[in-house]
Amino acid sequence: MKLYIPVLAGTTREQRKSIYAARLVAEVGNTFEDVETEVIDPKDYYFPGDGNDPEGKDPRYTAVTERAEGFFIVFPEYNHSFPGTLKRMLDSELKNYIHKPVAFGSVSNGQWGGVRGIEALIHPVREMGMVATFTDMQFPKINDLFDDNGTLLNEDYREYIKGAWIELIWMAKTLKYGRENLESKFHSQP
Ligand SMILES: Cc1cc2nc3c(=O)[nH]c(=O)nc-3n(C[C@H](O)[C@H](O)[C@H](O)COP(=O)(O)O)c2cc1C
Repeated sequence: MKLYIPVLAGTTREQRKSIYAARLVAEVGNTFEDVETEVIDPKDYYFPGDGNDPEGKDPRYTAVTERAEGFFIVFPEYNHSFPGTLKRMLDSELKNYIHKPVAFGSVSNGQWGGVRGIEALIHPVREMGMVATFTDMQFPKINDLFDDNGTLLNEDYREYIKGAWIELIWMAKTLKYGRENLESKFHSQP
């Protein structure tokens, strides 16, 4: 059976560019025969208010996170951190992240590739119970990496992205085994 590992995108603004990187990460993910993935675009979801009370959730996102065996979050650095939109989406759920792996792809229009965004996101995802991989993807100079139609201009990136997926898949299989076979007070018993 395939592992369902969605790619979470981080922004919604009209002229956004990080969505191109998210779509590419999903495209590469779907080349692995043991993976099923899709882009979860915050633009398609609705999270009123804040928190994770029933009225602050989108049931479709709840279903995505329940089913997910891991996550690949692709987002830009905003003011040396992550975009509020991404945090709002993540915050809408609580228990569905526990003991699941997460990989990061960070985006910037400068040369640092959004690494500070990843450093900032490590703290909240750890509190959510996710386990971070150490094989991050960076997409620096995003305006040079994709054209205005979102076409990739440097094919080498597909290979880099594969490396990040390989580690995420290993972690997803390992943690799935743990969730299904090892006792934990944080999820239902095997
Ligand atoms: C509000 C805002 C803050 C930003 N802050 C940073 C930053 O701290 N470091 C950086 O490298 N790029 C920064 N950028 C540039 C973004 O990384 C770049 O514009 C990227 O395309 C944004 O992703 P998006 O197109 O999906 O919105 C910022 C952009 C915005 C809109």
